[in-house]
Amino acid sequence: MFSRYRKQPASPVDASPAPPPLNKVSKKIAAIDPPKPAHRPKVDKAPPPPRGGSAAARATPADKERKRKERLSEIKVQLHKELLDNLNLSAIENAAESDLKTEITAIASEALNEMGVVLNRDERQALNQDLFDEVKGLGPLEPLLKDDNVNDILVNGPQQIFVERDGKLTLTDITFKDERHLLRIIDKIVSAVGRRVDESNPYVDARLSDGSRFNAMVPPIAVDGSLVSIRKFKKEKLGINDLVKFGAFTEEMALYLEAAVSTRLNVIVSGGTGSGKTTTLNALSSFIDNSERILTIEDTAELQLQQTHVGRMESRPANVEGKGAVTQRDCLRNALRMRPDRIIVGETRGEEVIDMLQAMNTGHDGSMTTIHANSARDAVSRLENMIAMAGIEMPLKAVRAQIASAVHLIVQASRLQDGSRRMVSITEVTGMEGEVISMQEVFRYQRVGLTPENKIVGHFTATGVRSHFSERFKMWGYNLPAELFEPFQP
Ligand SMILES: Nc1ncnc2c1ncn2[C@@H]1O[C@H](COP(=O)(O)OP(=O)(O)OP(=O)(O)O)[C@@H](O)[C@H]1O
Ligand SMILES: [Mg+2]
Repeated sequence: MFSRYRKQPASPVDASPAPPPLNKVSKKIAAIDPPKPAHRPKVDKAPPPPRGGSAAARATPADKERKRKERLSEIKVQLHKELLDNLNLSAIENAAESDLKTEITAIASEALNEMGVVLNRDERQALNQDLFDEVKGLGPLEPLLKDDNVNDILVNGPQQIFVERDGKLTLTDITFKDERHLLRIIDKIVSAVGRRVDESNPYVDARLSDGSRFNAMVPPIAVDGSLVSIRKFKKEKLGINDLVKFGAFTEEMALYLEAAVSTRLNVIVSGGTGSGKTTTLNALSSFIDNSERILTIEDTAELQLQQTHVGRMESRPANVEGKGAVTQRDCLRNALRMRPDRIIVGETRGEEVIDMLQAMNTGHDGSMTTIHANSARDAVSRLENMIAMAGIEMPLKAVRAQIASAVHLIVQASRLQDGSRRMVSITEVTGMEGEVISMQEVFRYQRVGLTPENKIVGHFTATGVRSHFSERFKMWGYNLPAELFEPFQP
């Protein structure tokens, strides 16, 4: 009755669906698991305790659990192969989830019956879900992709999958069967977005259809098995209020940032990898007035701006023949001809820096970007380096002058050792003093200690300096109270 998704028999004469060739499976399983009398014991049934102190008697419950898991995973692999042999993959593409689940359950239970394997209800449910994930989704990665608490998924070869929850990396007990299994899933992911990865083209950076950022590198470049990194796309991006609630910064800092963005200061969000730069940039963009025309440029489109008038661009790497690349710089240059009020570059990392600074200096003030750096000073050095690397021959002083007049504010994001993400510093760029760019920190996160549970204790504080942009804020109608800039009093 479920013939819709099963492969049709080769002969058109026999219209009735042929029973699936389950015998194949039983034979393979038999090879793993030696044949037993007709009625096998349940998988979860413990064997009678052997007498005496044999090794089996000392097998701990953990050992038994492990063995049972191994056996279940063997069964799963065989059943999965059976499903692939039997299901009509092109029909599956459009199959309703419930229909497909019913079909998979039917095929699986037929196969289990054939094998004489009895599973309890939970095991059967888990098995059916796993099989469904294998056929329709991304196998072992599927539950992690569904888990909203997981931010990043990092795969180091088939046996190691790490996830990041609450800023902390932990090893999961989820594994792939072997490298081939992992490669198959990688292939499934990249072919769905029209890309290819193989020995001659061993790495790929892509955006998945759900918006998640995906990077994979396969052997032989990845030495111990394929490496995969997924930054999951959050449908609900964290807004300013969420970030304040999570302690990423304070309400006072939010007020200051609102004034800064609204009065069109050029802002750079600086931070390490995964420190929350993109999240912060996205949250800051909410202060932009809805009447403005915003153009965003990213390598992987992650930003989700709330305004009505937004044009999004995504750069593109070269194809296998090395052709067709459209860089962030290309997008940026083109964007300047598209009458933007503001330009947002997801991350400045290369030669686009020069166009970004020029844009900031020439009428597109209020532009924003992120940069990979560990402090405000470091962010400026990174800009200088990027300009040098882009082959621009300019005296250092001129480069600095360019940066000093383009960048107004550097917001430093950081992932602290306890996994918390905080805006550890807000620094204003005030100009040049001789050869040096002068800056002043307005807010900072002050660490004071560590709890016994290794949670960082600290507080945000204003540094006490008056904002360099006070007059500007006032002129634009943002009268920030003086207390905002007063240092924290315990
Ligand atoms: N203050 C915060 N509190 C809790 N989670 C956060 C916070 N800021 C960011 N996150 C989460 O941390 C993850 C990484 O954030 P984000 O992508 O903004 O970092 P990033 O610095 O841009 O990373 P990358 O260097 O990889 O581009 C995201 O899943 C995001 O939802
Ligand atoms: Mg980012």
